[in-house]
Amino acid sequence: MNAISKLPRRSVAMLCLVAVVSMLLAQACSAVKHEDFKTCEQSAFCNRHRTFADSMLKQSQPASPYSVIKNSVALDGHFLTAAVEHSSEKVPLKFELGFMKNGVLRVRVQEETPLKPRFDETQMLVLRDEGGSLPYASPESIKLASNTTDNRVVSHTISYLDSNSSFSIRMTERPWSLEYLVDGKPTIQLNTKGLFRFEHLRERPAREEGAAEDTTGEWEEKFRSWTDTKPRGPESFGMDISFNGFEHVYGIPEHSSPLSLKDTRGGAKGAYDQPYRLYNLDVFEYELDNPMALYGSIPLMLAHSTESTAGVFWMNAAETWVDVSRQKPNSAFSGLFGRGSASHAPAVSTHWISESGVMDIFLLPGPSAADVFRQYAELVEPTPLPREFSLGYHQCRWNYIDQEDLLSVNSKLEEHKIPYDVIWLDIEHTDGKRYFTWDQSKFPDPVAMQQELARNGHKLVNVVDPHIKRDSEYRIWKEANENGYFVKDKNGSSDFQGWCWPGDSNWVDYLNPQACRWIGEQFHLDKYNQSTTDLFVWNDMNEPAVFNGPEITMDKDSKHYGGWEHRDVHNIFGMLYHKATADGLYTRETPATRPFALSRAYFAGSQRYGAIWTGDNAAEWSHLQASIPMILSNSIAGMHFVGADVGGFFGNPDAQLLTRWYQLGIWYPFFRAHAHIDTKRREPWLLGEPYLTYIRDAIRERYRLLPFWYTLFREASLTGMPIARPMWIEFPLEQALFTSQDSFMIGSSIMVVPATDSNVNQAIEVYFPAQENWYDMKTYALYLAPLKRQFTLDLSTTLVFARGGSIIPTRERQRISSALMKHDPFTIYVYISRAGTASGKLYFDDGETYDYKNGAFIERELMFADAKLSSRASPLTKDTSAYIAFLKKTTKVRVERVVIVGLPSALTKATVRENGEEREIQLELGCKGSDSDSECVIRDPAVFIGSDWEISLS
Ligand code: GLC
Repeated sequence: MNAISKLPRRSVAMLCLVAVVSMLLAQACSAVKHEDFKTCEQSAFCNRHRTFADSMLKQSQPASPYSVIKNSVALDGHFLTAAVEHSSEKVPLKFELGFMKNGVLRVRVQEETPLKPRFDETQMLVLRDEGGSLPYASPESIKLASNTTDNRVVSHTISYLDSNSSFSIRMTERPWSLEYLVDGKPTIQLNTKGLFRFEHLRERPAREEGAAEDTTGEWEEKFRSWTDTKPRGPESFGMDISFNGFEHVYGIPEHSSPLSLKDTRGGAKGAYDQPYRLYNLDVFEYELDNPMALYGSIPLMLAHSTESTAGVFWMNAAETWVDVSRQKPNSAFSGLFGRGSASHAPAVSTHWISESGVMDIFLLPGPSAADVFRQYAELVEPTPLPREFSLGYHQCRWNYIDQEDLLSVNSKLEEHKIPYDVIWLDIEHTDGKRYFTWDQSKFPDPVAMQQELARNGHKLVNVVDPHIKRDSEYRIWKEANENGYFVKDKNGSSDFQGWCWPGDSNWVDYLNPQACRWIGEQFHLDKYNQSTTDLFVWNDMNEPAVFNGPEITMDKDSKHYGGWEHRDVHNIFGMLYHKATADGLYTRETPATRPFALSRAYFAGSQRYGAIWTGDNAAEWSHLQASIPMILSNSIAGMHFVGADVGGFFGNPDAQLLTRWYQLGIWYPFFRAHAHIDTKRREPWLLGEPYLTYIRDAIRERYRLLPFWYTLFREASLTGMPIARPMWIEFPLEQALFTSQDSFMIGSSIMVVPATDSNVNQAIEVYFPAQENWYDMKTYALYLAPLKRQFTLDLSTTLVFARGGSIIPTRERQRISSALMKHDPFTIYVYISRAGTASGKLYFDDGETYDYKNGAFIERELMFADAKLSSRASPLTKDTSAYIAFLKKTTKVRVERVVIVGLPSALTKATVRENGEEREIQLELGCKGSDSDSECVIRDPAVFIGSDWEISLS
């Protein structure tokens, strides 16, 4: 304890501000302050729903109080509507079920005649084309059949057959419940536990004199020294959603919890006692293995079993809590949620609770994981193709002190032949945390600095936070103030004010489209002083972080454009800033080039605007370990471009931890090293040998595989398939892998088993799944699965395996940036499957513009069968003029090597066929055809990467 830690938070925040760069801060604020953040019990609406759930779950035959009003069910186009009411409240709720072509069912609920409008713009801000082009099913494909059972339960069965599987819905009237059947099997169930509860909007009751104070928090809620005035009163809602036949659920980032979500109710071993919370927050020194809210929220959950995968997307931007409880198959103890369940099948029950807005749920039926990813991507759009450089290595720290420091890091990286693409500047580069400005005393010539970086294709990223220093001399503040662009306080008349890095600040209101356009324009070259097209942007603190606000964020009753309260839009706020930034970068050049913007806060849809990272982790082995499930959870929730601070943000990693973190970090889709201002410098060369070599080797491995990564991003942009994948996605039948987070896949071809432990020569057990061949990517050693093997590793060794049957394109020339690799030849690795075959893809384009949308790309399908490797254009390749122009620019790009790993028989000759011509190449020794460690190198087949060719071995 020291004097500072005894001060109230407000004072600490002030001190933190003035002494932001001092060691004192780290000591005063060490370890997460639980008391700064609410538990469910302290969040009044969560508490009301959980208490209601407790009362329902205590009953042996819980019956929901909500029923369909007689004769109100109607089918209208692709919507089914019904009026539902509570047995005593009698406020009709309008239920709308929307049927989509891809099998997705949308369920929307709000009052039939709301007293005031509810916030319903989330759909405009999240869904593809503002929800306008969602693939709804044709009305003809939907059939409604109604019947009454003996015990007078009216049920409606709606079936539709627009896609390959047959989907149907069974809805009962009394009580209201809904079952989603996939191929006849009930898969996702709503309100079968009776936890549906909808707090209808109401007039504030007059408080009788002498009446006890309201303790329900419906009209006012206190938390520490803050009071949330709740002018609209209670308006929350909750629903139980059960996944029938499933034992595992995943997703709903961001939490520091394991990949397979732990129970939060029901007393299972290791269960949490709090629900998972979704409320974007800046949590200082966050704790691991915890359901507390972190910086981003994606309310998408996936359930997986050996039979199928299904998902639920709960589209709500307000504070949300999710309880999870498993019901074990055939067990006497069936968990709290298990009561009353007739079936002995396993199930996971979840309870979703949101504070405001409209209930808007999408049920994603799968049945495969790839189907769920596609269904979700069709709602919110997939990750677009990023700028190619952004897949390289990012060198960051808080802070590179001045221009000289930054340029010396650039030259040191070059000197040590460490490839990198981007160097970053944190908040100290500005004039007093006034974003869009430079501290000219430290950065006297930012343009010359950017040009110097650009000489070898390197880029700069500057942090541009959303809080705007209140300073009438600061142009950005002045313009926003004059235009009335700031978020307002609870009275709606004055601007909301709070503390962040610059001290007293205001926040631009990203709900206001004009304000978004205006902030976007500030990124244009004529506005952002001394910026060039080689400068890109980092949005931090956009939860938003408000140091002196409740839970270190904005008061919920502050007011946004349109009169909405912050509570309605909290989780979407950071995304809207990210969007405005990306839009600004997009419009700064004509023709546009692809923007790059990193954000800390995010929501469903953020994948459209750039990358995110997992915030302020620590230089500890446990954080290195936790980065894996965190990255995987984000990946499967559509946030594909994700990484964690390599090295750990707080604290000083020793050389071993830092080396291991680089060896893992090269497999993060977003690969950036970053460190707190109080930490010791740790650029790779500072570690000396042998660490420098190990780290350089790791980074080079990332660069070698850039064509593979870029091809995966292309796939993600078309299909929604994650890039970093939990094992279960690739091996959906292997139950042992459903909780696995010790290893993961990059695409479907590479299995990474990181060393996550401080033991120097640690033994790691690797499970090689399926009936497949796996090859060590360095030694080509073959492992015949299914197989468990122990490996003992020294620090120079990593465990990375190529899956038999894969073809992986690489570029092997060693360069210092991805830009310098653009015209390099390719090497193609063929890893033979047990059946003697392999397949893969290679996609590339100019890496910068949108010309690929007109066909300016090369996309090859590579096949190996019957000892013949062939390359043909993908069906998406079209003879457009843009394509032909791109081919001309790339005619010199050839395949310089083919490496075939695992050839079953000895071969000596390769015949190359291209454009009707045939050539013969003698093979090197090594094409010896053993089934272990065998590599066959075809040196310089000299085929153009964009033409059709074949290489036959004999
Ligand atoms: C926040 C960010 C961190 C950054 C720091 C200073 O803590 O998460 O990455 O370095 O602010 O801007």
